[in-house]
Amino acid sequence: MKKIIITIDGWSSCGKSTLAKQLAKKLGYLYVDSGAMYRAVTLFFLRNHIDWTDKKEVKKALNSIKLKFVFNPKSKVSEIFLNDENVEYLIRDMVVAEKVSDVAAIKGVRQFAVAQQRKMGTKKGIIMDGRDIGTVVFPKAELKIFMTADNAVRTERRFKELYEKNPNITIEEVKNNLEMRDYIDSHRKVSPLKKAKDAIELNNTNLTENQQFRKAMEWVQQKIS
Ligand code: CDP
Repeated sequence: MKKIIITIDGWSSCGKSTLAKQLAKKLGYLYVDSGAMYRAVTLFFLRNHIDWTDKKEVKKALNSIKLKFVFNPKSKVSEIFLNDENVEYLIRDMVVAEKVSDVAAIKGVRQFAVAQQRKMGTKKGIIMDGRDIGTVVFPKAELKIFMTADNAVRTERRFKELYEKNPNITIEEVKNNLEMRDYIDSHRKVSPLKKAKDAIELNNTNLTENQQFRKAMEWVQQKIS
């Protein structure tokens, strides 16, 4: 069967990674969480007190960052390593979420991440989720999905996820973070979040995980058969 590239873009916390993982499992494709790369770079910048308003400092810092994804047979997903340290768990922290959109808006950071993302797609058979995957990273992808969901539903979903790790988190904090990131992500100069002209919109506010998976699989079948 023909191998394709599937891109999933959309707003924060609207279920992109859930759908991407479902599809990757069914199709035996590689799943890449591009957001994890921006989160890992942000973690590095925070830990090393990098002044990311300074272009030279950013360049120097990026030169000492190595990112890789390693498949974890237990969780059945690829986990991100920052200079050989597994940071998959750490990068989900609110401290990183507070700053990631500022870091992801920097041109040098995007060039650094996009070059690596494109390399991962050379053999196709890949599903990547993010903000600019269908527009910038793989503009010629065979299937592009743009996901949306109501704000309240997205906040509730992310709150549940984060609450399991940190019961001190409040729903307001989560709501504010999602709103702030969506605003910065869709208003930045470089590669802003937007729906690619040829992307199919999937609003999953009222869909179960199974329903959204079946819908997406219909689109995949049309492309690979
Ligand atoms: O999981 P969630 O949808 O909340 O976010 P994520 O995919 O982990 O991405 C975190 C942040 O990274 C986003 O808010 C964007 O600022 C940035 N990002 C980006 O700019 N471009 C991408 N392709 C992926 C993420």
